Amino acid sequence: MADKNNNGKLDKTDKAKTRVATGIPGLDALVEGGFPRARSILVSGSCGTGKSIFGMQYLYHGLVDYEEPGVFVTFDEMPSKIREDMLKFGWNLKELEKNDLLAILDATSAKAGTASEEEHALTPGRLDFDNALLEILNVCRKTNAKRLVIDSIPAMGLHSDSLNETRKNILKLSYVLNRTGLTTIMTTEVPEGAGGGAQHLSRYGIEEYVTDGVILLGFVGLQSMRTLTVRKMRSTQHALDTHQIEIGTKGISLKKT
Ligand SMILES: Nc1ncnc2c1ncn2[C@@H]1O[C@H](COP(=O)(O)OP(=O)(O)OP(=O)(O)O)[C@@H](O)[C@H]1O
Ligand SMILES: [Mg+2]
Repeated sequence: MADKNNNGKLDKTDKAKTRVATGIPGLDALVEGGFPRARSILVSGSCGTGKSIFGMQYLYHGLVDYEEPGVFVTFDEMPSKIREDMLKFGWNLKELEKNDLLAILDATSAKAGTASEEEHALTPGRLDFDNALLEILNVCRKTNAKRLVIDSIPAMGLHSDSLNETRKNILKLSYVLNRTGLTTIMTTEVPEGAGGGAQHLSRYGIEEYVTDGVILLGFVGLQSMRTLTVRKMRSTQHALDTHQIEIGTKGISLKKT
């Protein structure tokens, strides 16, 4: 356990041993200074709620502010598009990749059956879950990653033969990653409710149980307002309030009330 200073509070370096800053302005204060280290956090929401941006922002700030190398595994979007989109927030991912601090693992090309031009890519034709997990861990080892983002679990599970197999894989993914010391964000989708809000916590109804934390992103009021709720965070005292967020010129932030 981390030492405490004279006031009985954790100092900055001790805190960094046990908590991982989220990179989202306003969020750390809601979760005792950050995500619990070496745990997995689910970021869940319907389409366009900001899950992928949240994931990349977590990695980007980990690198720039804490020098913690990170890996982003993309099953949904091409890395070239991600680099282009993130540049709009002022995040020059290419620069970080050049310095071997950030790796984007292209799983999209293999899924689409096309050749990848990326340095890190899943082997086409070997898309089974065990191989994907092995390749993810290899890239994490090579980059000495402390932070990992898997975007997204449903896209990763597409190639399983059955829902049971998918459930087993998610459990395995969570157990293996917990043992590696990586603090991982996994994204998942939820179907949209009639009012635009999410009615469920995850795509398969199991992700929220095998992960240590759940952050829900959503909309209210016919999508006019973006929201964030800390739905679960093991080892953390947190409120269940729903907070208003915005996606601005520097990414996602909680709105001050
Ligand atoms: N530069 C930007 N400035 C402001 N808002 C943006 C910007 N880029 C994207 N957005 C908003 O973020 C949304 C996309 O965010 P993101 O890709 O993270 O969503 P997602 O939850 O991952 O979606 P999906 O489920 O489709 O993968 C866009 O629909 C748009 O509303
Ligand atoms: Mg996305």
